[in-house]
Amino acid sequence: MPTHNNTRRMTAPDIRARKGGDPIVSLTAYHAHTAGLVDPHVDFLLVGDSLGMVMHGFESTVPVPLDLMIMHGSAVVRGSRRALVIVDLPFGSYEESPNVAFRNAARVMKETGCGAVKLEGGAHMAPTIEYLTRRGIPVMAHIGLTPQAVNVMGGFRTQGREKKDWERLEQDAKAVSDAGAFAVVLEGMAELLAARITKQIPIPTIGIGASVDCDGQILVLEDMLGLSPRVPKFVKEFGQLGEAIENAVRAYADEVKNRKFPAREHVYGMKKEKVTAPAKTTTKG
Ligand code: KIV
Repeated sequence: MPTHNNTRRMTAPDIRARKGGDPIVSLTAYHAHTAGLVDPHVDFLLVGDSLGMVMHGFESTVPVPLDLMIMHGSAVVRGSRRALVIVDLPFGSYEESPNVAFRNAARVMKETGCGAVKLEGGAHMAPTIEYLTRRGIPVMAHIGLTPQAVNVMGGFRTQGREKKDWERLEQDAKAVSDAGAFAVVLEGMAELLAARITKQIPIPTIGIGASVDCDGQILVLEDMLGLSPRVPKFVKEFGQLGEAIENAVRAYADEVKNRKFPAREHVYGMKKEKVTAPAKTTTKG
């Protein structure tokens, strides 16, 4: 948790300036405590709408409401102090028009204190990206596999594995860059195409299931910690926290059942008077 305020937070222009430089490190975060743990090691924290699936049990990100993003976004801002915090605009909060996008993105920025928003979509979202950035809202774009479009794609499908799709995806990347996005996430994209796009556009590309040649990488924190029951091929589990949690919970349950917990050191004595402990109750069979 933050203890003082004199650390300068990363900004969208800082991330933009990292094009072609040291790889940009990022992870998702959904609450204050984990944000605090991750913050010293990353350039930006993404409050991704994947929180709907990871934390709230939805089957896709489509049902995620704006208020939920705001609640998690403000927790992550409170829990961190140096990484840029970016909050996802959820499905239905920005597609209708640049006006609607501005109203909702401004709410996210004001109510969470985040430094930027992210939205999904390529060339068709370029006018909205331009509208927001011209009015003071830094936008990270997200192209390739766009999970909010799962119902149109018919599943979470890797993009650009056939060459016929390359031109469209390259145009998407160029359009969001020309519109003023400060960076773009390339998700679930054939490696060669992701590397090509990274060379073609002047803004950083952030890969997830894309290419080691992207300007940076992002993963969902719970996936890389080994907390998710199923993960896509592109996830490397850097920890096995699911197993550690299960072991700890099993040990706790055993100690409660055997009356080993709480032990002497976990209970409070009386301040002054001596009180005799109640006689042990016996259960009659
Ligand atoms: O919602 C999310 O977590 C994301 C990342 C996977 C890029 O958009």
